[in-house]
Amino acid sequence: MKLRRLISLGLLIYATLTARLLAAAADGTPREHLSLDQNWKFHLGDDWPSALHLDKAGASTGPAAEKFSDASWRTLNLPHDWAIELPFDRNADDSHGFKPVGPGYVKNSIGWYRRTFDLPRDDAGKRIWLTFDGVFRDATVWVNGWLVKRHEGGYYPFREDITDVVKLGGKNLITVRVDASKFEGWFYEGAGIYRHVWLDKTAPLAIAPDGVFVRSDFENNRPKGNPIIQVEVRLLNKLTNATKTVVSCEILSPEGKSVAKFRVSDKVPGASQPTINLAGKVKAPELWSPENPKLYQLVTTISANHEVLDQNTTEFGIRTVGFDPTNGFLLNGQHYELKGTCNHQDMAGVGAALPDAIQRFRVLKLKEFGCNAIRTSHNPPTPELLDACDHLGMLIMDESRLLGSDQENLRKWDDQIRRDRNHACVGIWSVANEEFSVQDTPQGGNVAGTMQDYVHRLDPTRPVTYAAPEGDTFAGVNGVIQVRGWNYHVGQDMDDYRAKHPGQPEVGTEQASTVSTRGIYANDKTRGYVSAYDDNAPSWATTTERWWSYFADRPWLSGGFVWTGFDYRGEPTPYSWPCINSHFGILDTCGFPKDNFYYYQSWWTTNVVLHLLPHWNWPGKEGQEIRVDALSNCKQVELFLNGQSLGRQTMPTNSKLTWKLKYAPGTLSAKGFNAAGHVIATAKVETTGPAASLRLVPDRTTLQANGEDVSVFTVSALDAQGRLVPVAQNPVAFTLEGAGRILGVGNGDPSCHEPDEFVPEIPVRTLAVNNWRWQLTKRPKKGAMLPEYGDQADDSTWNSIKPKTDGDTGDMVLKEGQFAVYRAHVNLTAADLASENIQVRFAGIDDHGWVFVNRQLVGESANWEDQPAFDIKKTLHPGDNLIAVGVFNESGTGGLNPDVNLELMGKPLASAWTRSLFNGLAQVMVQSTHNAGPIKLTASASGVQSATATVHSVPGGMRPSVP
Ligand code: GAL
Repeated sequence: MKLRRLISLGLLIYATLTARLLAAAADGTPREHLSLDQNWKFHLGDDWPSALHLDKAGASTGPAAEKFSDASWRTLNLPHDWAIELPFDRNADDSHGFKPVGPGYVKNSIGWYRRTFDLPRDDAGKRIWLTFDGVFRDATVWVNGWLVKRHEGGYYPFREDITDVVKLGGKNLITVRVDASKFEGWFYEGAGIYRHVWLDKTAPLAIAPDGVFVRSDFENNRPKGNPIIQVEVRLLNKLTNATKTVVSCEILSPEGKSVAKFRVSDKVPGASQPTINLAGKVKAPELWSPENPKLYQLVTTISANHEVLDQNTTEFGIRTVGFDPTNGFLLNGQHYELKGTCNHQDMAGVGAALPDAIQRFRVLKLKEFGCNAIRTSHNPPTPELLDACDHLGMLIMDESRLLGSDQENLRKWDDQIRRDRNHACVGIWSVANEEFSVQDTPQGGNVAGTMQDYVHRLDPTRPVTYAAPEGDTFAGVNGVIQVRGWNYHVGQDMDDYRAKHPGQPEVGTEQASTVSTRGIYANDKTRGYVSAYDDNAPSWATTTERWWSYFADRPWLSGGFVWTGFDYRGEPTPYSWPCINSHFGILDTCGFPKDNFYYYQSWWTTNVVLHLLPHWNWPGKEGQEIRVDALSNCKQVELFLNGQSLGRQTMPTNSKLTWKLKYAPGTLSAKGFNAAGHVIATAKVETTGPAASLRLVPDRTTLQANGEDVSVFTVSALDAQGRLVPVAQNPVAFTLEGAGRILGVGNGDPSCHEPDEFVPEIPVRTLAVNNWRWQLTKRPKKGAMLPEYGDQADDSTWNSIKPKTDGDTGDMVLKEGQFAVYRAHVNLTAADLASENIQVRFAGIDDHGWVFVNRQLVGESANWEDQPAFDIKKTLHPGDNLIAVGVFNESGTGGLNPDVNLELMGKPLASAWTRSLFNGLAQVMVQSTHNAGPIKLTASASGVQSATATVHSVPGGMRPSVP
């Protein structure tokens, strides 16, 4: 629909109006963006296989039903990955890291989540949206018993307008069944609600979800002069009447100054979803780049009848991206070498469930060695990774999960592009990775072309590529795609292709796949370790030096993306069990640098770098030859052993230096010289004594008391002289006091089978409820009280139930249409009642049941297949307690299964957290709670001095969240 523009391309400068004032003005709008991450209940297991009922609305049973009790389930916060909590299993899939989840492990592959939340009455008239950023994988979502969503796939966001089924002024229930019994990738994928969940509230006429798109257009895509800021606002009008609406935009500079205002107005028809286009200008903009990540803000306000209906703020960067067949990737009009890494969302300690603080931690780690771009292999990223990259300065290649131009895949592609296209960091889209079966076919080309056209329609500012594993092949996808991507094939293939297709820009979508293990200097198949000298790569891949020196000489290749920045679980190439994670990383799974880190740092940064390898602890190798490498960008390097020079060598560009020498313990040292012959760097590696003490160093000493923030502690072993012991493998125990909790532990060892997470166990004591008696009774009104449920009734003459000896179903004595009351007594002590929680659990009530404890209705059961459980602590007292169940048998035979138990639950047991050092290092992730105060972590190991470090959690940083 077309809007009449009241004020044309307007530029109004309001230098004084700050973002703060605007935020205050927005206070009156109904829009709320609320976190739903805290306080979920979780149960692992396919215990309610027939909970989903498709015959009638609201008819699903088990945890989907509101009456179901989840009191015995674990309480946890999102993001959550249950796969990482499972032990390793050597029969499980190696590419997924030997975790017993997925095909063949149905028992571990279905998880249930439940959460209640309140909505106030004055939300009446608002639209309420439920958004999942990502669930691995297929999710079935119910709200208040209503089936509201079935979403296939593990990497795409999904949302639903749940306005019609929520209860205002009361409790609401979300139930999610997650089915991770299928894989989508060939790498560790986690399992569960591993990304955030949100509840959004808006006015009925408001900005549609992901409804704002802002981009800066410069003439000829060259960042000269003043860009036009193009804004597209999609409105969603749920009202049935047309409404005269004003859409206003204000742009705030990186310093928070108002630099442009423009607006349009027109009638928005009822029940419509119009797109409104606006434009303004920003003078002398500050351009975004990884080195200067300056962000602007667009404040979009929707009003009608002088009332503000909606307002939201979109961060964006002003910059240009493009590809050129000669100059490769262009950022802000200049050749910009992509020094990229591919990464999966997987990290020591937490698996796929990365808190936002860990996203930032990882981006900062990558930047340390000069990485300026991430490829989100092989799926859409978590939005918070993009936020971190916008702010910290990191480009993104944003990749879809699958090649496909069917409606469903295009709908997902649409969601991904609309969600991510405002991010300054996103520089290029990738339609897919290595689609071996179809990539060289005409159909593959058609499909890639359709996906590419789709991008150009939704996002005309960014180029498109495909991570292609073929060599000099143009047929199919490569012939269609705007930017030829190269997975591997360094050498002749690339040069031949270039000669044949000089007009097509190119990029190294995936390179290296060099394998190495931190602190290991010989291949060891038995233990699953690969030497960290830059020597090893599988047949399709190359060493670090080989790919980078080749690409660095060819600017038209644009640079590329290393497989990978971080090690990840699964793909233990070149080995298998006992290896459980990959060796491709420049960093290990914790983010500890391997030696190749210093190669990249030498040639990807302007820091002066001088690094020696290996370590110098080789008892028993005295007199034997050892290779020493210097990774450096100094012009020359001189090596010394115990003060004796071993010669000075000149460093070839993009290379390294190597010496062979006879091992003697002591000090290996080096001097680095600049072109003028001045020493500009020194390095040394010393033979250390055994571990004498531990050290704990947090990456951040102040956390926000928001229950989400994380500090990452490095644990190391030092010798008596305070030097890191590079071979220490001590098992270390951790204890924590104060306002935090340990989230996970790791050590980067690709063959370590110790747990990353210690799940607190809930002690449960079970009391059997025996001696059931029953009597037929006239069926009362649904759930109504009967004398038979009370103490007064004498059940001594009732029938007694005979449990079957061969099974657990008891006597199914009720005929079709019959109703009976069943009763049993249980004697409890005050100690029993001191339990944290008490449930009564039934093995089966066939077909309908009404459960009364001491004359109070505690719950109903509507499905004979359920094993219902109800919280009853409040209704119990010391001494004799009466449990009475009214059972109605609708069809066949029925009755009560007398296998009934009380479950008395204690406080969750404190977990004893431990992790061994791997080559001197381990890692502990500590998360804040909602309480401010000191958080003290202690690391101790037998025979060495323990270490303590304290960080402080300060009030603040709380996300607005749903009560
Ligand atoms: C590539 C693939 C990656 C990873 C890598 C290992 O072919 O795209 O996902 O498997 O090989 O070298």
